[in-house]
Amino acid sequence: MTTFKAGLEDIVALRSEICFIDGQRRRLVYRGYDIGEFIGKATFEEVVYLLWHGQLPTQDQLSAFRRQIADAQDLPRELVDLLRSFPRNAEPMAVLRTAVSALGVVDPDAGIHDQEANRRKALRILARVPMIIAYHARLREGQEPVPPRADLGLAANFLLMLRGSEPDEVETNIFDACLILHADHELNASTFTARVTASTLSDIYSAITGAIGALKGPLHGGANEQVMRTLLEIGDPERVEPWLTEALANKQRIMGFGHRVYKTGDPRADFLRQFSQQMSQLRGETRWYEMSRRLEELMYERKGLYPNVDFYSASTYYLMGIPTDLFTPIFAFSRVSGWAAHVLEQYADNRLIRPRAEYAGPQDLRFVPLAERG
Ligand code: SDX
Repeated sequence: MTTFKAGLEDIVALRSEICFIDGQRRRLVYRGYDIGEFIGKATFEEVVYLLWHGQLPTQDQLSAFRRQIADAQDLPRELVDLLRSFPRNAEPMAVLRTAVSALGVVDPDAGIHDQEANRRKALRILARVPMIIAYHARLREGQEPVPPRADLGLAANFLLMLRGSEPDEVETNIFDACLILHADHELNASTFTARVTASTLSDIYSAITGAIGALKGPLHGGANEQVMRTLLEIGDPERVEPWLTEALANKQRIMGFGHRVYKTGDPRADFLRQFSQQMSQLRGETRWYEMSRRLEELMYERKGLYPNVDFYSASTYYLMGIPTDLFTPIFAFSRVSGWAAHVLEQYADNRLIRPRAEYAGPQDLRFVPLAERG
């Protein structure tokens, strides 16, 4: 047995061809392409196709993929009824976790587990997760859901379904790029959850439902919502330094900073910083970006920590008018693509994932009958 490492830090649990992270050289690679290769050039759908199939699609393959997604954007009646039945104050990540699990109950391929059926199920989940998020967001406001349009991609459709109006091109391109940046990230906690579940040959809905549960945690996907709450609590740039001094004095974790693997900074944050600045200029509201920049400077000075993917995505989404409690569901919307890629890869060359535990409890005790216990 190897020795115990808290949090499995730096433990290599499996081999994968999907994603490579270089924590020292700030590199994130999807199937051989540095993420910078996609920004401003590719759409989220192209990157999903790459993650699932191992190469970028031709025009015909991409058109067919987009049609398959559009054809799968018919949320079953049972799901719409379930979303209507939830209380308006239900946590969006709990709604998403429950609704994806319910999708698995009504999926026509529910009992079929060959790779083609798994790919069909993965596509349905990808197509329907943004609908679940947007539909519930409107229902909780007493508004009727807005269905997606077959001529729009996943990014534009989500903003249309959420707000009821078609987004402009600049905003759509920024949101699409945010989805690309969040699509996959090697063996993070939620992806590992999905692979462990898939390794038992359980179904893809069980694997992705578990992954949603893992992403919900504030140390993982939930951090982006906390970042926005921090910025709203601080209120303006002048209050950043006193707020941080007090928070660090209280040994508080500052959400959106630090990373288990990236020790010289998260490459995604560089793009998201630009998007936050672009959205600030587009909206004429620079406060959140300025506060974020000040917090970033001070966190490096005081703790030597860098922003991670959650830090600037918070102000970017906020400036898009997206409700704060939808930030983590949007992370899930994108990461469904990575989770599904890893589940399909696990199924293709599977071995049950079953690590060991270093036992730290007592040994050789003798049983004392109840009547004789003090
Ligand atoms: C994501 O793994 C992935 O790839 C995840 C992700 C993905 O794409 O899937 O990148 C997405 O989850 C990003 C991370 C989002 N979480 C947060 O922003 C929450 C705040 N960050 C931390 O809690 C922390 O940085 C972690 C959880 C992200 C990483 O923690 P580690 O590697 O377990 O580091 P650690 O907890 O051992 O901390 C090391 C030191 C400690 O100081 P000491 O106690 O040794 O003096 O750094 C300090 C920590 O106190 N520290 C922080 C801090 N993060 C680490 N101090 C203040 N604020 C922070 N955010």
